[in-house]
Amino acid sequence: MLKNKNILLGVTGGIAAYKSAALVSKLRKTGANVKVIMTSSACEFISPLTFQTLSNNIVHTEMFNQLYNMDVEHISLAKWADVFVIAPASANTIAKMANGIADNMLTTVFLASRSKVLVAPAMNTFMLNNEATIKNLKTLEDRGISILDTQSDVLACGDEGSGKMLEPEDILFEIESALTEKDLIGKKIVITSGPTVEKIDPVRYLSNYSSGKMGYSLAKEAVKRGANVTLISGPTSLDIPNVNKFIRIESTLDMFDAVESEFENADVLIKAAAPADYRPAKVSDEKIKKDAKEDLESIELVHNPDIAKYFGNIKQKQLIIGFAAESQNEIEYGKGKLKKKNLDMIVVNNIKQKGAGFKSDTNIASIIDRDGNVDSLSIMSKECLAEEILNRIVKLF
Ligand SMILES: Cc1cc2nc3c(=O)[nH]c(=O)nc-3n(C[C@H](O)[C@H](O)[C@H](O)COP(=O)(O)O)c2cc1C
Repeated sequence: MLKNKNILLGVTGGIAAYKSAALVSKLRKTGANVKVIMTSSACEFISPLTFQTLSNNIVHTEMFNQLYNMDVEHISLAKWADVFVIAPASANTIAKMANGIADNMLTTVFLASRSKVLVAPAMNTFMLNNEATIKNLKTLEDRGISILDTQSDVLACGDEGSGKMLEPEDILFEIESALTEKDLIGKKIVITSGPTVEKIDPVRYLSNYSSGKMGYSLAKEAVKRGANVTLISGPTSLDIPNVNKFIRIESTLDMFDAVESEFENADVLIKAAAPADYRPAKVSDEKIKKDAKEDLESIELVHNPDIAKYFGNIKQKQLIIGFAAESQNEIEYGKGKLKKKNLDMIVVNNIKQKGAGFKSDTNIASIIDRDGNVDSLSIMSKECLAEEILNRIVKLF
């Protein structure tokens, strides 16, 4: 979604400046064009050459070196940007921005800017909580500038508390969000994700290879578009995204209960999880020993409830979107599930295809609508697929 977008990054003099190099690298991987402005203090922390190499563009550090450039650089940079993000933003630069001071390239471009501006503060807790900084941040916020949160941690100076700059992937998320149309405002979207785990005894379980990446990508995309998002997730190794409500579950029965508690007020239920279809009939309280009478040569299983089918049959205003990962005949199975479970849309893929599996970062999916129309998509990242799915959900309202 950032492909060909122009991102202007302002870097100021703080220890977090090194993290902005990773931000530039991530931005470039999305296909964005990146230009960097550094204050002279920032150059004490990290070399302009690093940003020049990563952004593939000249880094702007001076106001007055335009001998070979007929553009008025501070105006053309301000015009060029789709988003201007200042990360890290020092207390000093924040104070200048709040007060209209334009004494270097960064603050001058800010004054001339017409794009969205994001400020990622990074400083010692006491500097952040100083009345002057609080007032300056409030002034900027009141003028429509987005002030990003900071994290709490042990800071580089040894103090503990807020003031640590957000991680590059979180800032990337905020940049994407700033450029995303808010077409899901007022909609509550419940998303299930990941595998479920069915206990056999205190050390053993049945599960599957679902990574949760598809559901988490959907949750992040829905948040960017302004939805109120509840993410119900089985065990995954992914970072918890910044959703309105996160419910961690283990078993399919837990997932059923969590969906039940959220369903009534939901506008959309997206079933991107891979809940286990079966669970052991009996869960042992103690670890089953190799030589025990009830050894593990066979395990009796019972059916778990079919969550999509259950809610498909009792739904009222809700839209229900299903997923089907098959190893053969995915379109045929998908159409069958769509009908049987009373879904509004189903996303199917063949897990045997290269680039379309559970753990993969990509997927090759077909989307089948209520009338059975099949839209076969090419290979794409799960983030892009999330965008495609939500584009279609918006049209169903
Ligand atoms: C080692 C060191 C680390 C610093 N870290 C920060 C910081 O994280 N945040 C901040 O606001 N200032 C920090 N400062 C102070 C700023 O560099 C200083 O206020 C400077 O004038 C900021 O200039 P600028 O806003 O033009 O980049 C640090 C200074 C030093 C020497």
